[in-house]
Amino acid sequence: MAKAVKIGFLGAGKMAEGILCAVEDKSSVIMAEKVPARAQELRAKYPVEVTDDLKKVARNAKIVFLSVKPQDVAAVAAEVKPLLKSTQILVSIVAGKKLSGLRRLFGSKVRLVRVMPNLALRANAGMCAVCAAPNAKKADVAAVEKILGGAGATAVLKEKDFDAVTALSGSGPAYFAYMEEAMAEAGVKLGLKPDVARLLAEQTMYGTAKFLRESGMPLKPFIDGVCTKGGTTAAGMEKLAASDFKDVVAATLAAAAKRSKELAK
Ligand SMILES: NC(=O)c1ccc[n+]([C@@H]2O[C@H](COP(=O)([O-])OP(=O)(O)OC[C@H]3O[C@@H](n4cnc5c(N)ncnc54)[C@H](OP(=O)(O)O)[C@@H]3O)[C@@H](O)[C@H]2O)c1
Repeated sequence: MAKAVKIGFLGAGKMAEGILCAVEDKSSVIMAEKVPARAQELRAKYPVEVTDDLKKVARNAKIVFLSVKPQDVAAVAAEVKPLLKSTQILVSIVAGKKLSGLRRLFGSKVRLVRVMPNLALRANAGMCAVCAAPNAKKADVAAVEKILGGAGATAVLKEKDFDAVTALSGSGPAYFAYMEEAMAEAGVKLGLKPDVARLLAEQTMYGTAKFLRESGMPLKPFIDGVCTKGGTTAAGMEKLAASDFKDVVAATLAAAAKRSKELAK
């Protein structure tokens, strides 16, 4: 059997663990983590090598995920830049760090891929947008998509779309959770217990998304199909459609995209 490609992580926090869960052969993984308790936790949970040495990861992995917080990127780059080679792929999942900025920090040799994931990675149902620097090969993008595909869906996009991606799928989990909260609170107002209302809201959100994803059904006929004339859903939808709900959603995403632009370097 062919030897598995060595996959590395610079920073082993929540998102790195989400990606790790999707890697089939975990014995091919090396992670660098500076918090000893976190390193120990990962060693106990998975058959992976965890080191406190970023350089060891940079030296040994063919595909290196950059998975620290944005404020830690410069320090990590200063340590690993001299070691990165043109045979390696650096995959940044860092929000707001553009390929041009990463190129300045990590040098022109390493092949760069940028990914905007979301939190749902941690439930193996993430949404990852992927874009590549000119020096990355098609096969690099395919290799990254193969790994991330195990943790949800992927879409290869242009970097110019990344502010919109950040606003929609990157920040989206918070907005859907807020919608769930609103539905649950409304259920409580109608007399349901809070835990029951949350279960009903959450399972309905989950089941609806699952059905739409699996059936690929267009949204309008789906909504119309649930709205029996004179029925309960139609009464609710009449109220919702007459409100400025869609304007509020559009303004929410626009604010997030604007902030993403401001933060991008
Ligand atoms: N969470 C999301 O929903 C989301 C969505 C899209 C993109 N992202 C991006 O994903 C990246 C990771 O986010 P996260 O939530 O997984 O962060 P996290 O849980 O804080 O994980 C980062 C880990 O790296 C460690 N670290 C920092 N500097 C290090 C160094 N020099 N050597 C070794 N380890 C180091 C951190 O330790 P300390 O805690 O001591 O700093 C922390 O344990 C971020 O850049 C974020 O922008 C996150």
